[in-house]
Amino acid sequence: MEKKEPLKIPAHVGLIMDGNGRWAKKRHMPRSLGHNAGMNAMIKLAEHASELGIKYLTVYTLSTENLSRPQDELDGLFGLFRSYFTSNVKKLYKKNAAVKIIGDLTVLPEDVQSLLKDGESNSPDGAQFTLVFAINYGARSEIRRAVKLAAENGIEPTEENFEKLLYTAGLPAPDLIIRTGGEVRLSNFLLYQAAYAELYFTEVLFPDFTPKEFDKAIKEYSGRERRYGKIQEGANG
Ligand code: FPP
Repeated sequence: MEKKEPLKIPAHVGLIMDGNGRWAKKRHMPRSLGHNAGMNAMIKLAEHASELGIKYLTVYTLSTENLSRPQDELDGLFGLFRSYFTSNVKKLYKKNAAVKIIGDLTVLPEDVQSLLKDGESNSPDGAQFTLVFAINYGARSEIRRAVKLAAENGIEPTEENFEKLLYTAGLPAPDLIIRTGGEVRLSNFLLYQAAYAELYFTEVLFPDFTPKEFDKAIKEYSGRERRYGKIQEGANG
């Protein structure tokens, strides 16, 4: 009988949670209820990712571009941050998991900024899983910010130094980036860090992206050969 290879589990997965609005529209519901359903899907996925042995899950929660959405939609999202960071987050801590925030928080309502910062600082030390929220995050502004920091502080922009100036300092680069909702692009998400990430796109709208759907992405990732620019094994004669 053929021996089944064990699944390769990525250390860091990035997740572009797209399709909440369309999910709500299909049900004649306001977009905010789509985000609500998206938050519930995200909570289940974070738990599942941690059980699989994934160390970091970075969720694209609000891009810099999303900040130009109508105020009532943004208020709905800020309401979800308030509810998540006052209650749900504690369930993560209990499972020895941490949260980290990347992005420019300064433009968010002040109470939300404090909740997000508390969410990070109250996280357990030595967590075995970290849920990273990209909030008002944009890769282009992250890279410009790092260049500015390097110039201002006279830091030689070697690969090692430069990575320390990004919001993701201390995190491994993502091994796999998943995008739900049918679009096939990265939309300003982790552009520097994604240099060698495997990409997985699915038509499934984010609120319907269950742990079972997530497993399909992991299975596909596991079967891919990562070459990092080197030639295929055995292709050299
Ligand atoms: C994009 O879908 C999704 C967002 C802009 C927000 C994602 C936010 C969540 C899943 C909620 C997370 C909540 C917390 C507390 C972390 P879209 O609405 O642009 O979808 P569409 O393309 O169908 O319109």
